[in-house]
Amino acid sequence: MKVMKTIIEKIDKNQIDEQIIEQAGDILQQGGLVAFPTETVYGLGANALDEEAAKKTYAAKGRPSDNPLIVHIADVGVLDLIVTHVPEKAQKIMEKFWPGPLTLIFNKNENVPLGTTGGLSTVAIRMPVHEIALALIRAGGGFISAPSANTSGRPSPTSAEHVAEDLDGKIDMIIDGGSVEIGVESTILDMTVDPPMILRPGAVTKEMLEEVIGEVAVDQTLLVDDAKEAPKAPGMKYRHYAPKAQLMIVEGETGEAVKAIKQIAYEQTRLGYKVGIIATNETIDSYTTGIIKSIGARSNENTIAKNLYKVLREFDEEEVSYIYSEAFDTEGIGYAIMNRLDKAAGHHTIQAGDITKLQKYRRILFVSNSDNCRGPMAAELLRNESLNKEYAIESRGMVVLFPEPANQKAEAIMRSQQMTLEKHVATQLEEADLDDDTLVLTFDEKRKWKIISDYENVKNVYTLNEYIDDERFVPSSHGQPLVVYGENFELMRELIKKLADKLNEEG
Ligand code: TXA
Ligand code: MG
Repeated sequence: MKVMKTIIEKIDKNQIDEQIIEQAGDILQQGGLVAFPTETVYGLGANALDEEAAKKTYAAKGRPSDNPLIVHIADVGVLDLIVTHVPEKAQKIMEKFWPGPLTLIFNKNENVPLGTTGGLSTVAIRMPVHEIALALIRAGGGFISAPSANTSGRPSPTSAEHVAEDLDGKIDMIIDGGSVEIGVESTILDMTVDPPMILRPGAVTKEMLEEVIGEVAVDQTLLVDDAKEAPKAPGMKYRHYAPKAQLMIVEGETGEAVKAIKQIAYEQTRLGYKVGIIATNETIDSYTTGIIKSIGARSNENTIAKNLYKVLREFDEEEVSYIYSEAFDTEGIGYAIMNRLDKAAGHHTIQAGDITKLQKYRRILFVSNSDNCRGPMAAELLRNESLNKEYAIESRGMVVLFPEPANQKAEAIMRSQQMTLEKHVATQLEEADLDDDTLVLTFDEKRKWKIISDYENVKNVYTLNEYIDDERFVPSSHGQPLVVYGENFELMRELIKKLADKLNEEG
């Protein structure tokens, strides 16, 4: 395609520059292409009644021309000029939800060219609520077709920068009105059937529609993997919104999903892959391995909708091989979020529990009396081993009176082996340390039995020796000369190597 100069103009939606709108309107009237913001995503505008303009739209997006366009209008009054009939239920819905993120399908009349509707006898129509969009539609002649302004197969654009990434040099103009409000495309409701049917979920939900007109159906091909039928909105059959990396959705209770994703990310990274993680504000601090991005707050899923496509685009830049995403509630806008995420993943999902059951412990806790010598030493030695799975490795003491540093002789021995305990601070064992995910290891029977007697429901407490099936105990070096510390260190190193082997064998 011939490269053209794309004009990029910023407009403040609270103070619209009429001159720019006029210029953009002229381009549209002459059959050109102008990308503009709406409340859902950026659209690639063209004159909807001009078949040639539709052809240009498909060419710029690299989109199959059997995938129909949505006609955007700015006044309900013009509807009669392009449809054969407006059903009563549609009237009610328009009164309630227009302008807004809702597209309605009607039977078209002869004014709408088949080039715009992909050969269909129906037409999709939407009245956006965005001030810049409304001004531009009016300036462009009142009927503006606008698919999402991305290259076909890439995530929809939620900022003018995204549009420029895909379409700079291929379209006449981009109007930059900042980031969009909603972030996922409009709900599509087919009004040519009764009950009306949702063909694409969006910010206007089934429940919201049913409050106004009673029963609403949902195209059953939307959230299933192996649907026999093609979806009713032609565009929904394409693997849209696809990031370059393989995306996988991890389903299950949030805490469990976090564990599963941590586990996969650790192992994939060890295998040499670059891994991306889609986390939330609530969970992001739990992750340690991979390129981790928050997609928004679980407490407000609107923020997730808003960031979804941006995060997918960012991962394209990172060139990760795999992306693992938490799953989200399908209430409200969540249904649209999961629909888009599921499509981006090509329906690849796994159950968190199927992964987490493959790892018994997630934390190894060494418990000694005062947590200033054997415990921290064992922990640091284990951290230096090559482990197949990720563990939080820590130490605690049974009687820690103040947060003292590690014993000086222990530190001297560690330094002679290119290790250090300089960051260690002795910490008292607490009830909360003894959860089901934690393997607790002591250095003698006495501490083991004290833990079992002092706390309730203690499950995974062993002496290091019994856990690795070795007779040898590492004695306390307390008050002994440095050489004894050295001997005990050597023994500890051997036992910790055996521990690492055992943890790796357990899978
Ligand atoms: O939020 C939106 O709707 C955005 C902004 C720019 O308004 N536009 C948008 O357009 O998402 P697009 O082209 O990316 O998606 C249009 C969807 C496609 O899945 C298409 O198949 C479906 O609407 N569609 C259009 N006309 C249709 C018709 N007559 N019958 C069934 N589905 C139709
Ligand atoms: Mg699209």
